[in-house]
Amino acid sequence: MKVIIVEDYEQMSKQAGEIVLDVVKKNPNAVLGFATGTSPIGLYDYLVKANKNGEVSFANVKTVNLDEYAGISATNENSYAYFMKKYLFDRIDIDNKNTNLPNGMAKDRQGECDRYNALLDEMKQDIQVLGIGSNGHIGFNEPGTSFNSTTHIVDLTESTIKDNSRLFEDVSQVPLQAFSMGIKNIMNAKQIVLVASGKNKAQAVKGLIKGEITEELPASILQLHPPPHFCLFWYSSYSKRKEHNLI
Ligand code: GLP
Repeated sequence: MKVIIVEDYEQMSKQAGEIVLDVVKKNPNAVLGFATGTSPIGLYDYLVKANKNGEVSFANVKTVNLDEYAGISATNENSYAYFMKKYLFDRIDIDNKNTNLPNGMAKDRQGECDRYNALLDEMKQDIQVLGIGSNGHIGFNEPGTSFNSTTHIVDLTESTIKDNSRLFEDVSQVPLQAFSMGIKNIMNAKQIVLVASGKNKAQAVKGLIKGEITEELPASILQLHPPPHFCLFWYSSYSKRKEHNLI
């Protein structure tokens, strides 16, 4: 694993963005795995800039997203489908029919997981962008999720509901369940780039880089992902990082 500790959020976004752009430049038909959350927003801005200045085209790429809340529609501002359109898809030359997320409104939830797994079997990610939850979750794979899991329905933990409530009007509006790619689907990606920023991610990042590989910290499995695999991390000053034994 290549760990890159950067000076600020902008650096993290630029360097992670370069890694993604490189994949698209080499293969304009690449399958890109995307994530939501505040961490990759700067990375998406960087891709938008490169698209607008003609450096790269996304016209032929295909995308798969990690997860989606269950029970909310793509037009709901809190859905991940809405997030992706707002921060990326509506701002680049991508063909919307090439973008894929689990359908949060699917009535047959198990059927929707099966559909998404079949899609992922067909479309292996050339690169998967990841964020990380403060409890070490990736996608919505909460602590305790099997490393062998494929797309499944998740009961969100209290800590994730609390963390994610900042984007909702009220904590009671955060859905209790979500669809998530499983760990196995994530590990199938040919390349992974994880972006993490802020103090509340320090412990999770430490576990990811140096901790025991355990289902209790889902991100720790990434230590076994064959290179190239990058973790870009920004957190405060050198002394703070030292204090947390991160460097
Ligand atoms: C959600 C998403 C994750 C994301 C995490 C962290 O739970 N399902 O994919 O990594 O939030 O989000 P943020 O980057 O906003 O801290």
